[in-house]
Amino acid sequence: MSAEVRARASEATSLDGRTFTYGTARAIPYRVGDVVLLRGADVTAVGQVTATGAPPGRGGTSQGEGVVLAAVGQDGEPVRQPVPPFLDATVEGAPAALLEGLQRSVGASLPVGLWHGGDAETVARLRAAGFNRHTFLCGQSGSGKTYALGVLLEQLVLATDLRVVVLDPNADFVRLGELRPGASAGAAGRLGGGAVRVLRSQGAGRDPLRMRFATMPPRAQAAVLQLDPVADRAEYHRFLQVIASLPAGTVAHLAAVLGDGDAEERALGQRIENLGMHEWQVWARDLPSAAELIRSGQRVTVLDLGGFSDPLEPLAVSLDVLEDLWAHRAERVPTLIVVDEAHTLCAAQPSGAVQERVTERIVQIAAEGRKFGLWLLLSTQRPSKIHPQVLSQCDNLALMRMNSRADLEELATVFGFVPRAMLRQSPHFTLGEMLLAGAFVPAPTLLRVGSRLTFEGGSDVGVPLADLARHG
Ligand SMILES: Nc1ncnc2c1ncn2[C@@H]1O[C@H](COP(=O)(O)OP(=O)(O)O)[C@@H](O)[C@H]1O
Ligand SMILES: [Mg+2]
Repeated sequence: MSAEVRARASEATSLDGRTFTYGTARAIPYRVGDVVLLRGADVTAVGQVTATGAPPGRGGTSQGEGVVLAAVGQDGEPVRQPVPPFLDATVEGAPAALLEGLQRSVGASLPVGLWHGGDAETVARLRAAGFNRHTFLCGQSGSGKTYALGVLLEQLVLATDLRVVVLDPNADFVRLGELRPGASAGAAGRLGGGAVRVLRSQGAGRDPLRMRFATMPPRAQAAVLQLDPVADRAEYHRFLQVIASLPAGTVAHLAAVLGDGDAEERALGQRIENLGMHEWQVWARDLPSAAELIRSGQRVTVLDLGGFSDPLEPLAVSLDVLEDLWAHRAERVPTLIVVDEAHTLCAAQPSGAVQERVTERIVQIAAEGRKFGLWLLLSTQRPSKIHPQVLSQCDNLALMRMNSRADLEELATVFGFVPRAMLRQSPHFTLGEMLLAGAFVPAPTLLRVGSRLTFEGGSDVGVPLADLARHG
């Protein structure tokens, strides 16, 4: 059967101009996610298959349904306008030019991989403007999240003037400013040459990652001191009094004042000593803090949260940065706050005062940040690991391989606009396969993530293999 005859053997009907059903005798049935061209008597439209019926028997037909994405103009370009109902339209797999037209119609231009959109393949492109909301990147460990996040970040840095802050628990983005050989001069200009500033706990010649206690809001300071407003009622209350009389006091100032005080003040002093806060390396002292660097106009800042000796230090410096971004929200500097392994900072069940406060801040940014230009891009392994009030505020989904049915169910509930049948494919994704849905793509897009322009950071440790020659 020629392609022509096969195309004629497919017919679609839409009674509302928004969804359609189709039947086809094509030798290769359409798959969920495929983009199709629908030609009716009076209308040409582009649609996407969202569900398919039982597979055909030998020589049989297959059915399915889909959504109408756009009308197609005389010039073959998709136009986002209402489509009238149609009967008996022919159905064909969309050619690459139509996929590209679809991307153009929404201004999607950032190349991030390869989109297999049906009968044709083309470069998968994202709409930078679609990052003006919160994005959730999810997939099991080893599915390629961090790599994909790197690809997205590179393209965002290349194509936009967004301020980007990366909270990086595993030192995976410490080489985001180092281009691989062969990168274009344009890429080198935008990504290299100091555009990306990497702050790290220690090391000669490195930009240090630091925080400033003195300028934090008192309640954030109290959280850093692990004070609970209810369980430590008296101490907490006294802390607020002391700190009010000690503007811009460092932890060392505070400890000095407390040493001469009454029982409650001495308890506070003991708390600082017991927590070992004197020895924390994270204090800025006469260095700039991370928050100050970000505010001073640094475009892309990577905070390598590893390498501190006290696990409270990375949480505290993250808190300082988030407090500062929130405190200056009225300046409306468009900012993408990226958190890899997001459950470490906004856990579903945070533990300890600092993590609770960090989570509260992220919940607040999730709920109210958009109007101030503060947008989140959060990556984690399971939706249930991050705070539900953060997840429910995400509008963009990037899904990599994920096995758990319960997790996919949860995603289907939060991201109701993603065809369930597309979500159900996720357990079968291979490394680097990703489903994107939301404001950053013209339609839910299944793609293979492209290559990184810069180096990956701390890669997995390889399993050392036995030397077979030596062991016989
Ligand atoms: N698209 C890709 N192309 C090539 N290698 C990849 C790709 N995605 C991931 N990898 C490799 O697979 C491994 C796991 O990827 P990673 O991004 O660290 O997964 P995750 O963050 O989901 O645990 C890494 O060694 C990474 O280099
Ligand atoms: Mg990772």
